[in-house]
Amino acid sequence: LEQPVEFSIKSGSPEKQRSGCVVVGVFDSRRLTLPATLLDKAANGYISDIVRRGDMEGKAGTTLLLHAVPGTLCDRVLLIGLGKEKAFHEKEFGNAIRTAIKALNETGAFDASLFLIELPVRKRSIAWRVRQGAMIAKDAAYKFDQFKSKKDEVRRPLRKLTFGIERRGELAVAERALAQGIAIAEGMALARDLGNLPPNICHPAHVAERAQAMAGELKLECEILERADMEKLGMHSLLAVARGSHQPPKLIVVHHKGGKPGDKPVVLVGKGVTFDTGGISLKPAPDMDEMKYDMCGAAGVLGTLQAVARMQLPLNLTVIVPATENMPGGGASRPGDIVTSMSGQTIEILNTDAEGRLILCDALTYAERFDPDTVIDVATLTGACVVALGAVASGLFANKDSLAHELIAAGNEAHDRAWHMPLWDDYQELLKSPFADMGNIGGRWAGAITAACFLSRFAGKFKWAHLDVAGTAYKSGADKGATGRPVPLLAHYLLQRAGQLN
Ligand code: BES
Ligand code: MN
Ligand code: ZN
Repeated sequence: LEQPVEFSIKSGSPEKQRSGCVVVGVFDSRRLTLPATLLDKAANGYISDIVRRGDMEGKAGTTLLLHAVPGTLCDRVLLIGLGKEKAFHEKEFGNAIRTAIKALNETGAFDASLFLIELPVRKRSIAWRVRQGAMIAKDAAYKFDQFKSKKDEVRRPLRKLTFGIERRGELAVAERALAQGIAIAEGMALARDLGNLPPNICHPAHVAERAQAMAGELKLECEILERADMEKLGMHSLLAVARGSHQPPKLIVVHHKGGKPGDKPVVLVGKGVTFDTGGISLKPAPDMDEMKYDMCGAAGVLGTLQAVARMQLPLNLTVIVPATENMPGGGASRPGDIVTSMSGQTIEILNTDAEGRLILCDALTYAERFDPDTVIDVATLTGACVVALGAVASGLFANKDSLAHELIAAGNEAHDRAWHMPLWDDYQELLKSPFADMGNIGGRWAGAITAACFLSRFAGKFKWAHLDVAGTAYKSGADKGATGRPVPLLAHYLLQRAGQLN
């Protein structure tokens, strides 16, 4: 779980900070940043001496801890190497903050003053720097060790982090951006926790309970639809996936009503497959544990909702999570089964492992009743999307270009990027079935696109976008874990809509 670090902002000179540690940056080829220069002046060239002797050359990712620097009021000074000044962009800014947080936790300092916020990332406002800095700093302190009987204790963990900024006049703007960055990071932490929890604990009922708990804490309206409710509504596509499991499915609906009563809501739909075995089209054994992350779409939209509610954004937001397991039990769907979705369209289930679209289609139809302005679904939908875009960008599809552009822009702003993929009619043909209105798979090629094409058939009544986060919502391999994406992208999109992004 997260470490409780307390954040604040202050304007003032680095040499005047009474602090456990003052953190300043040094660029490659030994160029001191402005705060480093101020410290150096107060210390009579002490820092430039060290840099000249070659103990800190400014290479990205390097750090040097100094004690009792003359002329300063702090216990320590931490130098952070920033790499080439000309190549210092959004990614390098994030890496500098992450490096600082990691290094600080290895010092004995309880509190620190960070003078990295005003680093020269081209064209970025003070609000951007503070929001992004807070989000990254808090996210960098995230831990998930609740199942370790012996925790890796940090000796003296960092308790207070102060962002130093230059101009007092910018404090008010910075304070609001700080609150936003913290709310987004807390949303990411919720998403990461839900993703990282093991699938025997994080089953559909658990996700529903967490949504209800959040609704209770933040005064949101929450409704959980049970299997019988889904049957009445005719959600036979969703139910077909749930039938192979002993865990009952849940359809989770939560509303944040921050806007005017008449304002049409944004609806976020998150794929909540708490474990995806593939069903009768069983997945191979290697790495199947990672299919506990198949509810990261759900985790992402719930994390976004928490962030939006904590920021009290003046807009109406509804979150819908179809939650189920995909198991190969005796009741499971067979390849060849035909089901009628809530929309009335019939689907031939050719592969039970293409289950995400089967639960999302009914959730999209259900979204119609909220008369949405915009619907965005988020899903770890296809391996093909990981092949196409890797872990860098989420796949983005939309039935309206302006919506795609807004989401791309939000992703760039948050450095949580997405890439626009085509939804041309030519691909729709691949979903043809000889027996039903459509099959649930499109064959070998363009798998991420045919999956999106399938969903588009249930999204004809509203502006809609689909984010395939199969490659971005979690990392696999040795340091596997949920990433909290696409909470930053979605939160920035909603901040923009609420007119609170500056
Ligand atoms: N949850 C998977 C997609 C996935 C794969 C996410 C790898 C993360 C990593 C999804 O339900 C699935 O199994 N999709 C199939 C679709 C295919 C049967 C058309 C896939 O991608 O192989
Ligand atoms: Mn699957
Ligand atoms: Zn899946």
